[in-house]
Amino acid sequence: MNLMNRQWLLARRPDGPLSNDNFEYRELELQVPQLQPGEILVQSLLFRCTPAMRTMMKANSQFMPPMTVGEPVVGSASARVIQSANPDYPVGCIVSALTGWQDYVVLDANKMPPVRKPDDVSLEDFEGILGGNSVTAYFGLLKIGEPQPGDTVVVSGAAGSTGSIAAQIARVKQHRVIGIAGGEEKCAWLRNECRLDAVIDYKSEDVEQRLGELCPDGVNVYFDNVGGATLDAVIENMAPFGRIALCGQISSYDEGNALAQGPKNMMRVIYWRLKLQGFLGFDYPDEMEHALSELRQWHSNGEIVTRLAIHDGFAELPTTYRRLFDGSHFGTLLLRNDQADT
Ligand SMILES: NC(=O)c1ccc[n+]([C@@H]2O[C@H](COP(=O)([O-])OP(=O)(O)OC[C@H]3O[C@@H](n4cnc5c(N)ncnc54)[C@H](OP(=O)(O)O)[C@@H]3O)[C@@H](O)[C@H]2O)c1
Repeated sequence: MNLMNRQWLLARRPDGPLSNDNFEYRELELQVPQLQPGEILVQSLLFRCTPAMRTMMKANSQFMPPMTVGEPVVGSASARVIQSANPDYPVGCIVSALTGWQDYVVLDANKMPPVRKPDDVSLEDFEGILGGNSVTAYFGLLKIGEPQPGDTVVVSGAAGSTGSIAAQIARVKQHRVIGIAGGEEKCAWLRNECRLDAVIDYKSEDVEQRLGELCPDGVNVYFDNVGGATLDAVIENMAPFGRIALCGQISSYDEGNALAQGPKNMMRVIYWRLKLQGFLGFDYPDEMEHALSELRQWHSNGEIVTRLAIHDGFAELPTTYRRLFDGSHFGTLLLRNDQADT
């Protein structure tokens, strides 16, 4: 079988804010080989735009190997199995897989088993409430933040995919929750739909000063998605023995090869006996099933709302992806493959 495979390649590494010139479009005829036992051929349906991909475009990518210039951009998607030599992944099932920015790819599903979408879960919920960002929020808040009764929890990137879930879990657990986000529309959603106790618009307000007003007794738990100046502002307002769950540092990703810088005021960390800890969303495999079941229940009860920003058209992938860094998307950022049946 021959298939026309559209691809977006990393054409050159960005040495400043990402532009569409960093990517190159290509169409290739894919001659699908005879699948080896364990292999599957998948068609990408919904491309996931994740901030971590931006760090992998840098030559000094730390956690995952850097992307290769001239190769398809590395990223994951929901994808449909269209040929299979693996009984665990029959034709027609939908998986979450590392497809890269292309229509089709052959994967060895034994080597790196993709997560299969349960039949009773919609594609939207698979990407939203049951997606990787939701479990990241769940474990980061509850395992690293360890909020205690009466605690005040602050979340940055609060209107985003991960942040909005972390903030709402804190509310479900009856903590006082303050979200930090950019712009009135996002702040209004956090106030009205996510029902947070207070919201700070970092684009128009002084975060350090507002936190001082809102939290005279200090912040007990901070779920940090952005780092940089916001992290500094929250540290100035932490309560003694506060916990900071370091989820991400997005404020520094869309820069050259600079690595994210640490907080300015380390003496405050010492004197206030603060704990800062990084974590990854898949650190708790044994508790994943329980986390997913709680998330699903809170979502179906209406206790947690989700929002997806689904853009259309493979041609728009670079432009859509860049929205992560100017905040001009609202919700879990996805791009629908216009040539696939979703
Ligand atoms: N540790 C893990 O396992 C793990 C897993 C998933 C994600 N993460 C991290 O979680 C964070 C959020 O990821 P996500 O996928 O949920 O994305 P997201 O929050 O849905 O989207 C990114 C948001 O970041 C905000 N932002 C962008 N540049 C910023 C800047 N310079 N300063 C402040 N805010 C900025 C924007 O919101 P505003 O409009 O409010 O500015 C933007 O909408 C990222 O740091 C990511 O690396 C970590």
